[in-house]
Amino acid sequence: MDETLLNNLPGTRDLLPGDISRWQLIEDRARWIFALYGFQEIRTPLIEATELFARGIGGDTDIVGKEMYTFVDQSGRSITLRPEATASVVRAYAQHAMYRAAGVTKLYYIGPMFRHEKKQRGRWRQFYQIGAEVLGSDHPAIETEVVEMILRLLDSVGVSGRLLINSVGCEACRPSYIEILRRELRAQLPHLCDDCRRRSGANSLRVLDCKDESCQPHIDLLPAITDHLCGACADHFGRFKSYLEKAGIAYQIAPRLVRGLDYYVKTAFEIVSGELGAQNALVGGGRYDKLSEVLGGPPVQGFGFAMGLDRLVMLLSEQLVAGSSAGPDVFLAFMGTRALDRALSIARALRSRGHACHLEFAGGSLKSQMRLANKLQAKHVLIIGDEELRRDQYTIKRMGDSKQWDATVSELLEYLNAQRPPASQRSPDL
Ligand code: HAM
Repeated sequence: MDETLLNNLPGTRDLLPGDISRWQLIEDRARWIFALYGFQEIRTPLIEATELFARGIGGDTDIVGKEMYTFVDQSGRSITLRPEATASVVRAYAQHAMYRAAGVTKLYYIGPMFRHEKKQRGRWRQFYQIGAEVLGSDHPAIETEVVEMILRLLDSVGVSGRLLINSVGCEACRPSYIEILRRELRAQLPHLCDDCRRRSGANSLRVLDCKDESCQPHIDLLPAITDHLCGACADHFGRFKSYLEKAGIAYQIAPRLVRGLDYYVKTAFEIVSGELGAQNALVGGGRYDKLSEVLGGPPVQGFGFAMGLDRLVMLLSEQLVAGSSAGPDVFLAFMGTRALDRALSIARALRSRGHACHLEFAGGSLKSQMRLANKLQAKHVLIIGDEELRRDQYTIKRMGDSKQWDATVSELLEYLNAQRPPASQRSPDL
């Protein structure tokens, strides 16, 4: 067999059962916390018309210019694997006339995105985002609420980050700022890297975002956009900051934060982590009040964010992962065929009440089954041998402290129910 068929593509990976509990833990908490803030899930297709992203994200961006997975399908249509989900959510919002519903619309999504980027630690070609969008409000208080929700999620999984905020202005004030920026850039150009020089023309705002060390002192000399905002943008930014302060949320103003997508106006923000290395952005987001119209939809204000799930998993506290062990509640160790029959019916009863059970059908000695239970991180072992069958009482061993006692099935159930309510009644411990 051709060996290369047994390798996944560069920048993609299999998320194996041993790691998946980390992902599920974050996803579960996100669903729980987002519901507290009134967000509902939306699932949009992984493929969309290329034009949706080209127009929505902007033709001059790196994403559209060089990172999209685009192909022509059998009907001759240009299709793209979504590099992000904001454009898709806004498309769905307009397509299904969700603006007719009362109040603001709050949507969240969890899923894979695709960008053909250079491989690096924390950067994948198929990566996962948890994101949320608020449609139908331009109030800076909703921006604060969203930031608070993100911080609550990060905190619930033991991760902290620095909140960086900026205003990228609007169509009224940005063009004149870009004029001033271009003028000032000319003096710095000889000291800047090739990427900066290339961007200094059509894409001058992106120069501010350059990560090249040698460019930094020169970029620092460039004018800050926050000094050139129009009245409306300056007022919005001021109110956003004051809502953050009232909520007790610490922030840092980052006048060079411009984000890599063209749809942003006014508020832009990121949450960065010092533990991530070069790809330090854990969360990115901002306001996009013109995106719907750019896509041909109705005027609707929007604000949202996306969080890199791959990056968050890298930062997840080991303690939390260990505490949420996916091991079964009960490992049923049995000796002989009659005991297997009994084990099957006990497992059925336990599972129907929400307790995870494991049976190793090959059986084997009690010693080998105990060893396996240990490896699987089972919380309890139920021993079913001839003697136990005769008495209809079984030996339970609690693996955490090796305590052992005898109990009937109904006593066992009572004990397990008290230990841990069935899944349907459980909520994440925030
Ligand atoms: P973005 O900054 O392109 O924004 O991506 C958001 C987050 O996704 C990043 O901060 C990072 O954590 C993660 N991410 C991006 N690219 C990769 C990659 N190649 N590998 C791993 N993680 C990655 C957006 O996508 C906007 N749609 C966010 C938004 C929503 N703005 C408003 N609403």
